[in-house]
Amino acid sequence: MSKLRLGILASGRGSNLQSILDQITAGRINAEVAVVISDKKEAFALERARMAGLPAGHFNYRDFPSKDAYESSIVDRLKQHGVELVCLAGYMRIVGKVLLAAFPGRVVNIHPALLPSFPGLHGQEQAWAYGVKFSGCTVHFVDEGMDTGPIILQAVVPVYDEDTADELSARILEQEHKIYPEAIRLYAEGRLKVEGRKVYVNKNK
Ligand code: GAR
Repeated sequence: MSKLRLGILASGRGSNLQSILDQITAGRINAEVAVVISDKKEAFALERARMAGLPAGHFNYRDFPSKDAYESSIVDRLKQHGVELVCLAGYMRIVGKVLLAAFPGRVVNIHPALLPSFPGLHGQEQAWAYGVKFSGCTVHFVDEGMDTGPIILQAVVPVYDEDTADELSARILEQEHKIYPEAIRLYAEGRLKVEGRKVYVNKNK
């Protein structure tokens, strides 16, 4: 079976990108990272891509007259590299209609909270400040809302009284590095079926 071509969008340190690369290298996902794109020039994710010998591109939002133009340019690059699944990995912008229309049902995201709780920025800090006893992370398909698309996988972690927000974030991140590659593996194996809000995992493969 041919390898699923991934396009990764990241804004920061790229530890989720790294976990995907590591699982691919270990032969656990039938996929390859075709290109890494960042809206931040200094994102360490771009450096990780270069170190792995992968194409890496920086797109500065301010260089474009509109969000549509910015996204069109990213779409062109993703298509040039034959991308089939777009993975947001710490990409800190709301995906717009141009990108979604170019990859319908083929954009996924990792969020550092148990959606639908604590969407948007700083999900870990939001959960910590709210005082929940459990939090976690969510891999979901992306739709036009903010972190509202159908949920593929979630992982739960406890929140301890003595936790700082940073300690909770680290505990969540450990799980992100497990469930994001796992969700991509399931997608690559054609085992995800979306019906409305629900994503069913075919276990018989
Ligand atoms: C991760 O915790 C990810 O869940 C979060 O940003 C971090 C990126 O880390 N994403 C969001 O908050 C999206 N709204 P990374 O750059 O090391 O992968």
